[in-house]
Amino acid sequence: MTQSVTPYKIKAAWIERYGPPEVITVRETAMPVVGPNDVLIRMRASTVTLPDCAFRAADPFIVRFFTGLLRPKSPIPGGAVAGEIEAVGENVTRFSPGDRVFGTTDPEPSAMAQYVAIAEDAALAIMPDALDFGEAAGLTYSFLTAMPFLRDEAKLQPGQSILINGAAGSIGTVAVQLARHMGARVTAVCSARNAELVSGLGADTVIDRHTTDFTTANAAYDVIFDVVGKSSFLACRRALKPGGIYLTTTPSLAILWAMLRGKDAQGKRGKLATTGLRSLPDKAKDMLVLAQLVEQGVLHGVIDRVMPLDAIAEAHRYVEQETKAGDVIIEMP
Ligand SMILES: NC(=O)c1ccc[n+]([C@@H]2O[C@H](COP(=O)([O-])OP(=O)(O)OC[C@H]3O[C@@H](n4cnc5c(N)ncnc54)[C@H](OP(=O)(O)O)[C@@H]3O)[C@@H](O)[C@H]2O)c1
Repeated sequence: MTQSVTPYKIKAAWIERYGPPEVITVRETAMPVVGPNDVLIRMRASTVTLPDCAFRAADPFIVRFFTGLLRPKSPIPGGAVAGEIEAVGENVTRFSPGDRVFGTTDPEPSAMAQYVAIAEDAALAIMPDALDFGEAAGLTYSFLTAMPFLRDEAKLQPGQSILINGAAGSIGTVAVQLARHMGARVTAVCSARNAELVSGLGADTVIDRHTTDFTTANAAYDVIFDVVGKSSFLACRRALKPGGIYLTTTPSLAILWAMLRGKDAQGKRGKLATTGLRSLPDKAKDMLVLAQLVEQGVLHGVIDRVMPLDAIAEAHRYVEQETKAGDVIIEMP
């Protein structure tokens, strides 16, 4: 079935100018146009992430080079998709109406709406039966970040020891489960209130970041994954084993300098990876890996709270506090 332009209006979150959470409104807009290679998704859930907040605020300034210099190129925010295929373009072969799918609208946001149209070869996969739409939306963002860090950057091996700083957040909760699945010994750093959560996800050891400074350890870890980018290679160097790697999600002059210098005398090094900028085919392949790992019972979503689309500004305000455990899910009306 091919869907062309329809007269229907849909509800969507809307950002016309960069600024604080108050700049987001919910309004009616036109139903997206579905091209011959596109699928139309009836959205059930999406998620609000820290990068979404950074894009909304254009902070740091550099995000404007990706999202629009003066104002957002795409006024509908959000990348994570979870919903049902409503209609497909005439050339589409991978999906059929009624399929439950999850994935991302990358490279452009547009997910925070009742309907989304994206190409069938986008990073989209059939949702495993075990997932509900909220979990599916949250896992998409976290997995597409955590997996390339652990598999491609750290090249994590069975028996290695990894410390995950920010273990209770969206990416951290998935990184703990993945690292454990890869056979590593996992040390999770979080607040005491989240210790039980990360232990349940597979962490062997939990460090309370408010009482213990993990960087004082001596040659303890093959990999330090600083998910929240709150530490630095310099601070973590002693805690790394010879040949170890410090990985961060967050750009800074310090990590760029560390990358420029390369390995130190003991073979230790620091690296920033930008998984958000990976190619669509790579993300699409990883969506299939994610579906498989969920089916095998390796990965579970962690949901902090579920909020309605009308509370999107409040959700951004909450996510910016950096206190959530797991994901903040937006349910579509
Ligand atoms: N490089 C890339 O391509 C890329 C891609 C996606 C995301 N990112 C970045 O990844 C980062 C993490 O994202 P996320 O979605 O996982 O974050 P998140 O879900 O917002 O993380 C929240 C968690 O961080 C912990 N936390 C807060 N302050 C901390 C601190 N000072 N030290 C250690 N932990 C702290 C808190 O847990 P506790 O209180 O329990 O510790 C909270 O549960 C963001 O900065 C995002 O921009 C980068």
